[in-house]
Amino acid sequence: MRRARRGRSRHNAPVMPGLVIVGAQWGDEGKGKIVDLLADSSDVIVRFQGGNNAGHTIVRDGEKFKFHLIPSGILHADKVCVIGNGVVLDPAILLGEIDGLRRRGVDVANLKISANAHLIMPYHVLLDTAGEVKLGKLSIGTTRRGIGPCYADKALRLGIRVQDLLDEKILRTKIRAALEPKQQALRELSVRRRKMRKEAGEGAERGEPADQSADDTPDPRLDLHTMTEEHVSFGHRLEPHIADTARLCWDALDAGQTVVFEGAQATLLDLDHGTYPFVTSSNPIAGAATIGAGVGPTDIDEVWGVAKAYATRVGAGPFPTELEDDVGRQMLERGQEYGTTTGRERRCGWLDLVALRYAVRLNGMTALTITKLDVLKGIDPLRVAVRYRSKEGAIFDSFPYHQSILHSAEPEYEELPGFDVDVEGARSEAELPPQARAYLSYISEFVGVPIRLVGVGPDREQVVWIGDEPRLQAA
Ligand code: GDP
Ligand code: IMO
Ligand code: MG
Repeated sequence: MRRARRGRSRHNAPVMPGLVIVGAQWGDEGKGKIVDLLADSSDVIVRFQGGNNAGHTIVRDGEKFKFHLIPSGILHADKVCVIGNGVVLDPAILLGEIDGLRRRGVDVANLKISANAHLIMPYHVLLDTAGEVKLGKLSIGTTRRGIGPCYADKALRLGIRVQDLLDEKILRTKIRAALEPKQQALRELSVRRRKMRKEAGEGAERGEPADQSADDTPDPRLDLHTMTEEHVSFGHRLEPHIADTARLCWDALDAGQTVVFEGAQATLLDLDHGTYPFVTSSNPIAGAATIGAGVGPTDIDEVWGVAKAYATRVGAGPFPTELEDDVGRQMLERGQEYGTTTGRERRCGWLDLVALRYAVRLNGMTALTITKLDVLKGIDPLRVAVRYRSKEGAIFDSFPYHQSILHSAEPEYEELPGFDVDVEGARSEAELPPQARAYLSYISEFVGVPIRLVGVGPDREQVVWIGDEPRLQAA
């Protein structure tokens, strides 16, 4: 029977059985930390999209954990952690993460994997890199983890799913069908590259996949037999975790339990609504939680966005408030802005309220959490972008849909006083300096949702709740 809906207000709801956490900027906002924190008082944590392009960091008592595929609730042994059907899963990476956690004494018995999630296969990784190399200066700066090619195969109906790992015959047939066009594509790309190199008289480029450029020997990583055998053995290891995860979410919600839907990547990397083509290949926005976990829109009670107190972006693409000066350098160094997945330096800049307001509306956010406030210490004044001005002088109060405008837009800033005291030790709003409180109020008023939580350091304890801590569980 459908659970009875509990009464709640739009903001600061005391009870929120279905809570979505999404990135409000370009990723790496600290979603992992927030999910870990909220997992304390929830029952099920579901990743609903993306793959191991994500890197989610949790710091507990100084000990660092980095997750790429495993939901950020995994450090709570009594919580069910789900990899939903919307995730693309590289089984070798997942098994590496499971082994790594076990070695650190973390119990992963409660990890459930959707039988319908698609698998990132070795050819997806090769194609991702080959595609980036081919694009040259126009490359997207993907994480080269095979995300785009895997989602493309899903849409082409050439994907291999987790459940296929459990039947060798089906697996072999599906790999054979999927492999053939990839071999051809990779062959063509390598012939093209060889020709270009010959013309340029260059040697091998760094970072390219080992391909058939030296000779025409087939790449052993693309051997049907080897790939099938290897994946059958992955299937044996993953089998105890494979489940009907949509049903698991329904059962939890119907029993009045709390489900946290964990987004990876972020709003401005959304395939439909982000800065296309400089985006990822999934939909990281809140609406996608329904598809990627298998629940209905009415199962979502709250949507919380996670944003940094400034902005970062890793990879190519427009970033209107980017700073290439000492302030940007300070954000990079104090914020340790190096990618969790690829180790790349993140581009840093001022907080962009035009983009943030867009993210709030697009996700139907009911609240925001602002992380890394501590990083802004000593930067005075603080700036926030409140509108854009196009090359032609037109003013944009809202996020422009036209990519040419966004690529050349100049942000106009509001200046707010900075603060020069440490905030790492603050645990209540009253312990934050008045300038920091004014900065947070300005953000909240501009984008029209309350800020519920502020991060003042990497550790899970380093947070300030604004208002009451939410009671996630049903009474
Ligand atoms: P995610 O991908 O959104 O989960 O974020 P990442 O883990 O990739 O990047 C966020 C980084 O900021 C991690 O290294 C976190 O440990 C760190 N972090 C999270 N919250 C805070 C905070 O409030 N202050 C500081 N200084 N670091 C934080
Ligand atoms: P989390 O979950 C930041 C970026 C890549 C690239 C673009 C496309 O840790 O916030 P892809 O490999 O997905 O095809 O790359 O998206 N990107 C991320 N940037 N955080 C992430 O995840 C990202 N996942 C992908 O840098 O620009
Ligand atoms: Mg990250």
